[in-house]
This record gives sequence, structure tokens and C-alpha cells, in this order.
Amino acid sequence: MDSTDVITIDGPAASGKSTLAKRLALRAGWSFLETGALYRGVAHAAMKAGVLGESREFLGKFAWDLNLALKFGEERNLVFLDGEDATDLLRLPGVAELASELSSIPEVRHSLTHIQRKAGEKGRLVTEGRDQGTAIFPEARLKFFLTADAGVRAERRRTELLAKGIVVSPEEVLRDLVARDEIDRNKSVAPLVEPEDSVRIDSSRLNPDEVLEIMLARARETFGENFANP
Ligand code: DC
Repeated sequence: MDSTDVITIDGPAASGKSTLAKRLALRAGWSFLETGALYRGVAHAAMKAGVLGESREFLGKFAWDLNLALKFGEERNLVFLDGEDATDLLRLPGVAELASELSSIPEVRHSLTHIQRKAGEKGRLVTEGRDQGTAIFPEARLKFFLTADAGVRAERRRTELLAKGIVVSPEEVLRDLVARDEIDRNKSVAPLVEPEDSVRIDSSRLNPDEVLEIMLARARETFGENFANP
């Protein structure tokens, strides 16, 4: 087993990365990493500390000094801030947008690089984010780029929010998503780009089971028995 036994899934917001990373990992008994949770962790901590108005330089240092830790849970990754489980707070409205903005600060990105690489040190990892196949695990043996039309992604996100009792209009969800895509694709450090050596999957007309089948087939080709037929 080595550190190239890593599968990366990159793509825009609400493209299904997290669901698929988890399902793919479960099929092989691998771990999964949701890197957005780390950026959300920094955003939540900055909100809580009331430092959002500070300079980018200050916020970069703030991220470095954070006591942020990640644990692989059964169902999701757990993010701890100063030893306290903050996971439930990371999906609250506004945190993702702020995470996206803070993620354009190079020092914020650097402060989270080590945690991500460490998670992949032993291999057997499916990781999802925006830069996993490009900046964090460029040597990964299998890379996916998962995308879908903005309208489809917005509807999926709205359904997800509704299930949690959060009611948002379709227009509002779409507007937030498009704004976040814009920031994620255009930031000067680690913008969302499709890795050259990745397998592109457009899930606009596919359900999660169908996407999983495509990914599993590729994983079996690449890793053989680790991804044996069930
Ligand atoms: O995956 P997510 O929606 O939870 O991520 C929240 C934000 O964090 C996303 O809009 C951009 C940033 N992010 C990033 O810059 N790089 C990553 N690898 C993951 C997330």
C-alpha cells in the first residue's frame, strides 16, 4: 500500500463529490476526506472570533495559529476546533461562501495542506475538493472531475437544505452557487481546474448510483482487487 493509492474527486459546489467520495470509499473499505470541511472550519472559527474584517495577512496568520484537527468518522469527517467537535456548525448558511473567500488566501491554503497530505500518507483514501488532483495529490493514480449544470446542482443543494429544514428559494440557491463557482474558478491560488489526467463525469443526467458505477469500473481497472466486484 502506498500514498499513490489515492482517488481524487474535484469539481464545483454541489456536484455530488462528497456523496460519491463516501460511497466509493465504503465499497473498498478505504477512508474518505471532505476537504471543504477544513476550509469551513477556518471560516467558522474566523466568524466566531470576530476577525472577518481583518486583512488577508491577518486571516492567513489566524488560520496557521488555529488548533484545527480532523478525524475520519463513519458517516462524515469530524472537524475539531480547540478540541471541540465543530462539525455540525460547518454546514450553517453563509459558512461555505466565507470558506470560499478565505480559500483564496495562500496562507490559509498552506495551513491546511499538511492535514490533507497526512490523511493520504498511508494510501487507501478517496478525497474530494477543488485541488486534490492538482495541488494536494498530483501523484494520485485515479482522478475524477465531477460536474453538472448549475441549475441541476442548485436544485440538489436546495433539496439537501430542505431535508434539514432550511427553506431557501430556488433563485437564491442558484445565485449563491453561481457566485461561489465564480470565486472558486477565478481565485489566483489553486483555482478550480480540471486536472489534465482526470476522468470527467457530467452528472447532470445521472443519478448517484450511475455515477458510482462509472467510478467503480475505473477504480477496478486501476486498483484491481482493492476494488473487487461486490
Ligand atoms: O466542498 P465545500 O463546498 O464544502 O467547500 C467550501 C469551500 O471551500 C469551497 O467553495 C472552496 C473551498 N475549498 C477549496 O478552496 N479547496 C478545497 N480543496 C475544498 C474547498
